[in-house]
Amino acid sequence: MQILPNPSQPIDCALLEWRSARRFQNAPIAEHTLRELLELAIHAPCSRLAQPWRFSVPGKITRTRLTRIAHDVTRGIAGSNAALQTAKMLHQAPALVAVSVQYTNSQNIRAQREDYAAVCCAIQNLTLAAHARGLAIWWRSGYLVRHPSTADIFKLENNEELVGLLHIGYPIAGVYQNLKPASSNTRWLE
Ligand SMILES: Cc1cc2nc3c(=O)[nH]c(=O)nc-3n(C[C@H](O)[C@H](O)[C@H](O)COP(=O)(O)O)c2cc1C
Repeated sequence: MQILPNPSQPIDCALLEWRSARRFQNAPIAEHTLRELLELAIHAPCSRLAQPWRFSVPGKITRTRLTRIAHDVTRGIAGSNAALQTAKMLHQAPALVAVSVQYTNSQNIRAQREDYAAVCCAIQNLTLAAHARGLAIWWRSGYLVRHPSTADIFKLENNEELVGLLHIGYPIAGVYQNLKPASSNTRWLE
């Protein structure tokens, strides 16, 4: 049975439209808009009121450093063309926000998983708040995000891990997902 969205529900509409983009218009994002997105992101569910999210907003100098590292790291893994492309995408991102998790108990795997999950929820909040303002996000979590040099650039602490590097901007084209219906992944039990 296919369930249709309810067009009078803004959240339904936001969830059914694309919110992600890889390419952005050359339009700046006001700092107060970024601040609003961050304030909305933190209204995410989190266990033990841990509030494990940390945000880093790189300025010009940090962005230049990040672009250089991204170029070098990518060249080593994927070659010169990919390196140039990665550097270009970073350079052209109207805004960048690095979102990390500060683990509240690094001895306890369960607490770590909860902290990581809460940060993912915060990123989704930020994405939906951005969407409501006509913005889109590219959430990156690949090798650049996991590279130790990136952790250095964002001055991460020992018990902190990057969850995503978000490119944010007014989109040129969105990313469409071809999703299986929930019914194909759901067990209804007696
Ligand atoms: C945990 C996580 C990590 C992701 N990492 C990447 C990534 O490294 N590169 C990428 O292109 N997309 C990545 N994505 C996917 C997109 O950023 C985005 O979620 C997807 O395009 C669909 O977004 P939308 O349905 O909100 O429009 C990741 C998504 C999640 C949830």
